[in-house]
Amino acid sequence: MTPRTEIPNPKSQIPNRESVARILQLKRETGATILAHNYQTPDIYDVADFIGDSLELARQASTTGARLIVFCGVRFMAETAKLVNPGARVILAAPNAGCRMADMITAEALRQRKQELGEVITVAYVNTPADVKAESDICCTSANAVQVVKSLSPNKRILFVPDRHLAAYVARETGRALLDPGPPFAIRHSPFAAIPWEGFCYVHASFRAADVARAREEHPGAYIVVHPECPLEVIDAADAAASTSGMVRLAREHKEIVLGTEAGMCSRIRRDLPDTRCWPLRRTALCQNMKLTRLDDVLAALEGSVPEILVPDPIAARARAALDRMMAVVP
Ligand code: 13P
Ligand code: SF4
Repeated sequence: MTPRTEIPNPKSQIPNRESVARILQLKRETGATILAHNYQTPDIYDVADFIGDSLELARQASTTGARLIVFCGVRFMAETAKLVNPGARVILAAPNAGCRMADMITAEALRQRKQELGEVITVAYVNTPADVKAESDICCTSANAVQVVKSLSPNKRILFVPDRHLAAYVARETGRALLDPGPPFAIRHSPFAAIPWEGFCYVHASFRAADVARAREEHPGAYIVVHPECPLEVIDAADAAASTSGMVRLAREHKEIVLGTEAGMCSRIRRDLPDTRCWPLRRTALCQNMKLTRLDDVLAALEGSVPEILVPDPIAARARAALDRMMAVVP
């Protein structure tokens, strides 16, 4: 098996014909479906049945008739697939692939915070562990966060976890005041507010407005889209904010595009839209966990040598309820 490393390995982009043939054969034999996130590498795209953003992947997982889902992405995504389709076996091809933002919150810390704050509606970004979703009232993804928060009572404060940048963007788009995560007495009497957690994505939080300004100079005329996990100053300097699949849709409308997100997204654009010129806002903006999946891992998952994702029952039922509420708002 290819050695696992946190540094993206360019060799992973050269498909091994034997592995690909074996994967396709096992897919036919087992009736498995392979779901891949947009940040995966081109060799993984080539064996995937569906490539999408977090919301699309959750929808796909919930509606697939396949009894085996091999997930190429990170743990919270595979857990979500299991939650929305408990009858399927879900295997995360690279079992060590986590999300550093999702690791910035625990269920215990969230319980404590809710106790301090009194009555709040807790909105969990889907980039969270299942037990954090279980402590939350509703989930959201980058594609529907604004709609989800708009659907909530305007008279109640929301606690938005764990991404403070997405919280700031959503608060602004929904007309809520963004409160500093301060002492509970300071916010107890402030309705209409969004209270952030201190989490962030190290890939997106590192962008600055100056990166957008430089991209405008280097690629005049290119449309600049950034992910809503970026700081507000970056979103404001860009032409639009969108989820990763929102970026693919916007790339259909523009001949030249700069993407303020994980640099691998440009491979995704080139695959579907070879005539669109795509540049990453920064070439070194890579999510190391998203780059862990190798074809050999997919093969091992199909051969049954990778353990399946399991979520304990009481947690699963409550986490599923939070996801179901999201799906009811934005089916
Ligand atoms: P999307 O849901 O937009 O694909 O985002 C997932 C993610 O982890 C972005 O860093
Ligand atoms: Fe998590 Fe950021 Fe990687 Fe997305 S890009 S999986 S938010 S660490």
